[in-house]
Amino acid sequence: MQDRTRLGVIISGSLNSGLTARLEGRESVENMRVGQFVVINGEKNDFFSMLTDVTLEATNPNVLTDPPDGDAFIHTVLAGTATYGTLQVRPQLMLPHDPSAQLTPVKTIPRHFSPLYEAQEADFSRVFGVADRTHFEIGKPLDMEVPVCIDLERLIERSNGIFGKSGTGKSFLTRLLLCGTIQAGIASNLIFDMHNEYGRDALAEGNVFVKSLRQLFGSQVLVYTLDPDGMQRGSYDGEIVIGLDQIEVEDVIPLQDELNLSSTAGETAALLEDQHKERWLIQLLAMSSEEIKEFAEANGAHPGAIGALRRKLIQISRLKFVQKQADFSVIDRMIEALAAKRHVVLEFGRHSSSLAYMLVANIITRRIHRRWKDQSEKYNQNKNAADRPHPLMITIEEAHKFLNPANAKQTIFGMIAREMRKYSVTLLVVDQRPSSIDKEVMSQIGTRITALLNDEHDIDAVFTGVSGGTALKSVLATLDSKQQALVLGHAVPMPVVIRTRPYDADFYKAMQQPRTGNTTFVPRSMEEESDDLFPD
Ligand SMILES: Nc1ncnc2c1ncn2[C@@H]1O[C@H](COP(=O)(O)OP(=O)(O)O)[C@@H](O)[C@H]1O
Ligand SMILES: [Mg+2]
Repeated sequence: MQDRTRLGVIISGSLNSGLTARLEGRESVENMRVGQFVVINGEKNDFFSMLTDVTLEATNPNVLTDPPDGDAFIHTVLAGTATYGTLQVRPQLMLPHDPSAQLTPVKTIPRHFSPLYEAQEADFSRVFGVADRTHFEIGKPLDMEVPVCIDLERLIERSNGIFGKSGTGKSFLTRLLLCGTIQAGIASNLIFDMHNEYGRDALAEGNVFVKSLRQLFGSQVLVYTLDPDGMQRGSYDGEIVIGLDQIEVEDVIPLQDELNLSSTAGETAALLEDQHKERWLIQLLAMSSEEIKEFAEANGAHPGAIGALRRKLIQISRLKFVQKQADFSVIDRMIEALAAKRHVVLEFGRHSSSLAYMLVANIITRRIHRRWKDQSEKYNQNKNAADRPHPLMITIEEAHKFLNPANAKQTIFGMIAREMRKYSVTLLVVDQRPSSIDKEVMSQIGTRITALLNDEHDIDAVFTGVSGGTALKSVLATLDSKQQALVLGHAVPMPVVIRTRPYDADFYKAMQQPRTGNTTFVPRSMEEESDDLFPD
């Protein structure tokens, strides 16, 4: 610490509200930026901390009521004595002075007048690790050239979120994370690609094309489509069609907003499903008004309600990829590819309505969930390593449509978010309106990568269940409008603001390099379990 420039000393504070440091007179407040990292050199520990606010103070209020005129000399004389700056800092991690000891969460604070230094590269490397097979560089700190790495093994243990206003770089952050997990072979990915960004080259701002996952990872990534018209044969691996007989009541209820369904639509549909099983929708759409009346009378329902449901659900049958009947063969082939550790981008083509998106995502995800759940149960019974389900991460955009308070309780996506990694399926939710996501779901989001947000409610939502969230809010509000993000949660040792790693030629090259380190990924819990199975 001795050879570093001291920024100031700690003068007050508490564990809960953070610490205040008095800035050295020679240091300019203008060099202190919110989000920057500092190290407080305590007696037994260094406290790795984030700067959360900068304040101007004066020892004597008279100086302020009668400010000196523009004489630079007097300003310099006053600076550091009568006038000074303070820094609000929030300790994030304790680094014991013994370099072999583990980093620990902050449980105490340094004593009065502990000196404060700028964090240096070595501190960062100690905290954020070095990029290796399971540590993926997501970006760099604002003012330093060292990688900030995400622990991919921890990442895939929970559902995760990427948030930010439109145009702040969510899709690019998503690409980065997907590439990281694909390269590491740590999880399969299924991407519900609403805007056709991941399967093929996408046009970015400035008219440059960026490479698709398919281009970067070849046949490891399969492209399925709902809209093969106009696509070259051979440029996709399968066409998805949905049969009316594959649509369950459970798939229709979350479409309440999209179809303007009444609150009793679910009950009405359930009556039909009781009677006609998987043909309920086909039957409903074919009913004449006479038949509607008869059905209503026989089942104690209201004919008007059935008629209205029929009128609204006709919209589903008008979707071009919906047929009267379909089997699950293509979808099952896709699911088997995922189980075999490959990755799938499902392109919606021109079917980018939220009606199409939600319908398809629900039907497919329900089936996947069933498959992974069965496999997990089988594995739990026989403990045969070959039966262990490969972790799967499902990416959904506009996630709040699936996870708003009404839908989160009843849709498959809400269930996955809540049950965490019980069955090795997790979500990567991408959203610009996190405040619309159910609170309980938000609190289960393990790692949150958040670009700029302006709306107060959205900012609050990102910090659901995070201690010390208030101090971080000001950090979030100061991000650049692009390519900067706050990363916090399970997969990083502490919250950190990054300049997002550029998705460019250098990145492509890095992704095409063979992975370093051991090549067979063994999930952590499996190591633990095999310890139980084979005690020494
Ligand atoms: N990591 C990055 N590398 C390169 N360009 C980026 C990156 N992040 C953002 N951009 C630029 O910002 C633009 C908007 O990013 P995008 O991910 O499409 O925003 P969002 O999905 O939040 O609407 C992109 O078109 C691209 O030009
Ligand atoms: Mg986007």
